[in-house]
Amino acid sequence: MVVARLSRQFLLLLSSTFVALLPLTFSGSDSEALLKLKKSLANAGALDSWVPGSAACNGPKGSWRGLVCQGSTVTGLRLDGMGLSGTIDVDALADMSGLSTFSVENNSFTGTIPGFNRLGALKVLSLSRNQFSGNIPSEYFVKMGALRKVRLSYNKFTGEIPDSLSHLTNLVGLHLQNNRFTGRIPSFDSTNLNSLNVSNNRLAGEIPSSLSKFGASSFAGNPGLCGKQVGFQCPSTPNTTSKTNMFLVAFMVTLGVILFLVIIFCVIRWRGKKQEVSEVIPSGSSNDAVEVPISMPAKTEERTNSACSDSKVPDQGKTSVAELVMVNDDKGVFGLTDLMKASAEVLGNGPLGSSYRVRMASGVTVVVKRMRKMNALGNDAFDAEVKKLGTLRHPNVLTPLAYHYRKDEKLFVYEYHRNGSLLYHLQGDGRQSGGELDWPTRVKIVRGIAKGLGYLHSEFSSRDVPHGNLKSSNVLLGPDYNPFLSEYGFHPLLDIEGLQGLFAYKTPEAIQKHTVCPKSDVYCLGIIILEMLTVERPSQYDDGNDGTDIVQWVASAFSEGRQAELLDTAIEGSRNSVGSMEKLLRVGLLCTETSPEKRLGIEEAIRMIE
Ligand SMILES: *[C@@H]1O[C@H](CO)[C@@H](O)[C@H](O)[C@H]1NC(C)=O
Ligand SMILES: *[C@@H]1O[C@H](CO)[C@@H](O)[C@H](O)[C@H]1NC(C)=O
Repeated sequence: MVVARLSRQFLLLLSSTFVALLPLTFSGSDSEALLKLKKSLANAGALDSWVPGSAACNGPKGSWRGLVCQGSTVTGLRLDGMGLSGTIDVDALADMSGLSTFSVENNSFTGTIPGFNRLGALKVLSLSRNQFSGNIPSEYFVKMGALRKVRLSYNKFTGEIPDSLSHLTNLVGLHLQNNRFTGRIPSFDSTNLNSLNVSNNRLAGEIPSSLSKFGASSFAGNPGLCGKQVGFQCPSTPNTTSKTNMFLVAFMVTLGVILFLVIIFCVIRWRGKKQEVSEVIPSGSSNDAVEVPISMPAKTEERTNSACSDSKVPDQGKTSVAELVMVNDDKGVFGLTDLMKASAEVLGNGPLGSSYRVRMASGVTVVVKRMRKMNALGNDAFDAEVKKLGTLRHPNVLTPLAYHYRKDEKLFVYEYHRNGSLLYHLQGDGRQSGGELDWPTRVKIVRGIAKGLGYLHSEFSSRDVPHGNLKSSNVLLGPDYNPFLSEYGFHPLLDIEGLQGLFAYKTPEAIQKHTVCPKSDVYCLGIIILEMLTVERPSQYDDGNDGTDIVQWVASAFSEGRQAELLDTAIEGSRNSVGSMEKLLRVGLLCTETSPEKRLGIEEAIRMIE
């Protein structure tokens, strides 16, 4: 009876999760917008694959040339070097709600800059190597606060560098070289700006001191500039800052700070409210277990309850009820009834099953993972395996507390960590709600993951793959953000279908040769490293259907010397550390070498990370 109750609750929770996910799978008609765009272009022979009636997005690169897709949404247009000209239909671009990258480098566009400033969500705007000309209005970029990279180099732009460009706070890279810009170089508000090139223009005056970290080649070819980078001392100017000016500035700054605090306060209140009524399952990660604290909206539950009250829940009360088997009593001893009586909340669904947070009457909160494809072993062998897992003790390894065995379903019980998963902090709402991880914290997490993995490799040295499912959604963050590895050691337990759900089975050796090895874990470690530095969602997590092929992306940036541009804006600020970030990126690449022979071994990887 109790089992039946638990199952019914699980089913209801599951169905409400699906309802919550439905709107995320809806996609607009990006193909129509693209066809409209194509119509406005001249010499568009390179876009022959853009034809009505075919799917624009099919995989991360899209089935139409030049697209970057996430699911069925176009997130990027990379139409570089295609010989395109004509006008660019910005209305069509504006219809593409998911568009964040627009690049038409090295084509033959002419005329003044089109109205891209209507595309307020753009993060990357690349117009380099065309024949654009004319002034760019000073306020052009005012509504483009999301911009991270702006490349206008090798055109014929004239006039001053637009003032609004200098106020983009998210700006990471700005390439204006080889144009005809005049006037002074503004001081940029963005603290994250780490790539700047204004060389070969007609700029004049003093180089702002805030740009002192950029070298001579960023400024060369502007005969009117002065400052130490270009080797001309600026003529000393009399100090004109009067006392009243200083007061005015101080007053404005204070006012600004107060306003800022009020806004932050409102945002926090608002977010708090929103959190109560929404399922916190970040978009784009519907297939992954995301360990986030969520609260079930009472209303939804009622509604679902009444809507489903007629449906039959299979009566599991008749099958024999096995007990909960404790394998680790560090957090106390409890039984199946303690779990049944408690309320369960969905945390997420992964390829192996679903996770729930269960707060027991005793006050202890645990995570229950419900596994469906774990049918490789009979009860006794399963018991022996999981008891072995229960003996593990390492500061970076989450040891299971208990399990429950049923013929076609197993439950695993773990300690709950309220900081959630690494994925939640890198890609999910954790990042927006102030849980953004700074550089020292990321270093600590990478180290902890490597150490935990090293421990598993020594404990399970004879296994095909000691962890087997290392990815950011399976790294939980404890207090102080020390990482805990979870979902490891399942390899012997899973049936063939279940094995396909392990991340180790998405490695190149698994895809090409249908084998996994201890170095498959090293590959997974490498993906996490790249993901932590770039905060790009690896397509490797989703069979290439979603996200970026992060390995290829980082490797090609290295080969072009652009690796600094990849770093997450949230950590780019730690400027003295850019060198060590790049080193760690390189370790990530060595860990993700396609061939296991060339890939680092676990010990080497740990040594290099240390
Ligand atoms: C520009 O595109 C042409 C093809 O249209 C290509 O041959 C050339 O290498 C590209 N130049 C640069 C600098 O990317
Ligand atoms: C800036 O651009 C010029 C011209 O393309 C190039 O020679 C120089 O190396 C660039 N400098 C930097 C720091 O990117």
